Amino acid sequence: MHVQHLGGRHRAHLRHAVKVLVTGSAGFIGGTVAAMLAAEGHEVVGVDLMLPQAHGSASPPHGTTLVDVRDPGPWTELLAGVDAVCHQAAVVGAGVRVADFPEYATHNDLGTTVLLAVMHEAGVHRLVLASSMVVYGEGRYACAEHGPQEPRPRARAALEAGDFDNHCGTCGRILVWDLVGEDARLDPRSAYAASKVAQEHYASAWARQTGGSVVALRYHNVYGPGMPRDTPYSGVAAMFRSSLERGEPPQVFEDGRQMRDFVHVDDVARANLAALDASTPSAGGQAAAYNVCSGSPVSIGEVAALVARGSGRGPAPEVTGGFRLGDVRHVVASPERAAAELGFRAAVAPEVGLPAFATAPLRG
Ligand SMILES: NC(=O)c1ccc[n+]([C@@H]2O[C@H](COP(=O)([O-])OP(=O)(O)OC[C@H]3O[C@@H](n4cnc5c(N)ncnc54)[C@H](O)[C@@H]3O)[C@@H](O)[C@H]2O)c1
Repeated sequence: MHVQHLGGRHRAHLRHAVKVLVTGSAGFIGGTVAAMLAAEGHEVVGVDLMLPQAHGSASPPHGTTLVDVRDPGPWTELLAGVDAVCHQAAVVGAGVRVADFPEYATHNDLGTTVLLAVMHEAGVHRLVLASSMVVYGEGRYACAEHGPQEPRPRARAALEAGDFDNHCGTCGRILVWDLVGEDARLDPRSAYAASKVAQEHYASAWARQTGGSVVALRYHNVYGPGMPRDTPYSGVAAMFRSSLERGEPPQVFEDGRQMRDFVHVDDVARANLAALDASTPSAGGQAAAYNVCSGSPVSIGEVAALVARGSGRGPAPEVTGGFRLGDVRHVVASPERAAAELGFRAAVAPEVGLPAFATAPLRG
């Protein structure tokens, strides 16, 4: 089981055996969380709707019951004796098609509110919520001379001219990236991002009204075994890998120097276990939010090179100078709050995890 690989020696042990309901347990991350909890001796109730866009016509895996989180019906039995809910179920992706907006609203917004209502009804007071770095919208930047800046979206003309950086509004210098902390302004820029912010806000309202506790984990770019194959919504690491498998060079946009944080799915699962164990997670009725990241920023060009190295074949990555309007230049997270308050630090460095990902089993 892939939970044992790479970071297996850095497991996060919960203090007591618990019973946890994991939503989205057939998914990439939910499946890894459920497997790690079970491997640690905890009782897991897995539920998943098996959305066709995520699973085709596959049946639920062992340990997963076919449940739609939007359905208020089946929960009395499912939540009996449950200590905490780990909510991973969601419609994911870039949310590029306006026609998909209702999908995000119904599965993510409505689904979360139904879950919160049935948890309250059943007397379950602890929630760990899968949130995302997309809630920030932008990274954090500074000018060497004029300090922190919030750049405007990059103009098409500048990108077409190969000018991919953000510039200081005063002197025009290239802005350098800085670490995004959890108190950064929320600026959701897609239906998906709006739904992740909404999930956090509903969970905070629930915590305030019920005295329950919520930890929102803002995952950065998650990769690892079980990741969906090359779909329009799958991560860039999976796309690089698929290009290599076809014998084509991975296509790196811009100049390849855009910075991100790639975190291994085993570390994401460990962060969930740490969050389930947190003693005072939501002071003042607010969801306590944490970046879940490797803490080792990498450029997209480096990601392509690391995956190519691990594949042991295929042509070298190609930096194309292409771009997607609306992409941000850099977004890199601070891991410090999760380390200080949850005791979570990633164990799998991108230099180790990304080459291994080149040959890991994928889904679909
Ligand atoms: N993969 C990443 O890089 C990443 C980054 C940030 C946040 N996240 C968040 O992590 C969570 C898990 O994402 P993932 O990458 O494992 O995606 P995934 O598509 O592999 O898993 C999501 C699962 O949720 C299920 N689901 C969707 N709607 C449902 C519903 N109404 N009822 C029951 N099940 C439903 C799907 O069938 C799927 O199995 C999501 O909340 C996502 O927003 C993922």
